[in-house]
Amino acid sequence: MARRKFIIANWKMNGSLELVQTMSQTLRDKIKLNHPPCQVVLCCPDPYFSELQKALQGSLIQIGAQHIHHKESGAFTGEISVLMLKDLKIPYCIVGHSERRSHFAETDDMVHTKTQLLVQHDIHPVICIGETLEQRQAGIHEETVIMQMVKALQKIQHQDWPKVILAYEPVWAIGTGKTATPEQANEMHSVIRKQLHNLTAPEIADKVPILYGGSANGANAKELLSKPEIDGLLIGGASLKPQEFLSMVMAV
Ligand code: PGA
Repeated sequence: MARRKFIIANWKMNGSLELVQTMSQTLRDKIKLNHPPCQVVLCCPDPYFSELQKALQGSLIQIGAQHIHHKESGAFTGEISVLMLKDLKIPYCIVGHSERRSHFAETDDMVHTKTQLLVQHDIHPVICIGETLEQRQAGIHEETVIMQMVKALQKIQHQDWPKVILAYEPVWAIGTGKTATPEQANEMHSVIRKQLHNLTAPEIADKVPILYGGSANGANAKELLSKPEIDGLLIGGASLKPQEFLSMVMAV
């Protein structure tokens, strides 16, 4: 089953106006010329949305957010809302990243609420799931990841499934230089896919893209992407280096 491929950059709390320009410049022409068989999405920090939109205008590259609040509006100083993303025509948003879960106490319930809000407003949630090193060593990595996924996707409506993107990001691999082996990632993606089949009809489950994230870089992208269950990459550190990021897009 051919699924859509994605290369998604997660700049985290990094970047500058200069990076907005150099990244856009580097990607624009190449991506136009080569028509890569993947959707490229840049999840930049909120203050750069407008500049990045301008810099990417007319290109095939899309913009994503890294976070929304679980309410639509209100007295939540410093937060941003799904309605703002909609207003700005931002079509993707990361949810449940392990850094949000650990540093900002984002719970499975919040991930569920945010996922619902995003799909209701026609924004693609990029739902991050992944186990810690302790959970892997204790042999509970599969059930941990499945539980996170099931909680995020419970009660999702039939028509909203095509908006969903999953990202398997083992916490021990994020920013550590320790990538899951392509085999480890492929194996977990198969477990996730199997569980998707328990949640919805096979023709829907088979279409949900499952990306890998965690120390993916220019050197390992090709091998990771060669695995049948890996439908793309969610990239942190290496997404801040325009040439390396471009090479990962070209590796699809
Ligand atoms: P990394 O981050 O590529 O720097 O490991 C991935 C992520 O957190 O999405």
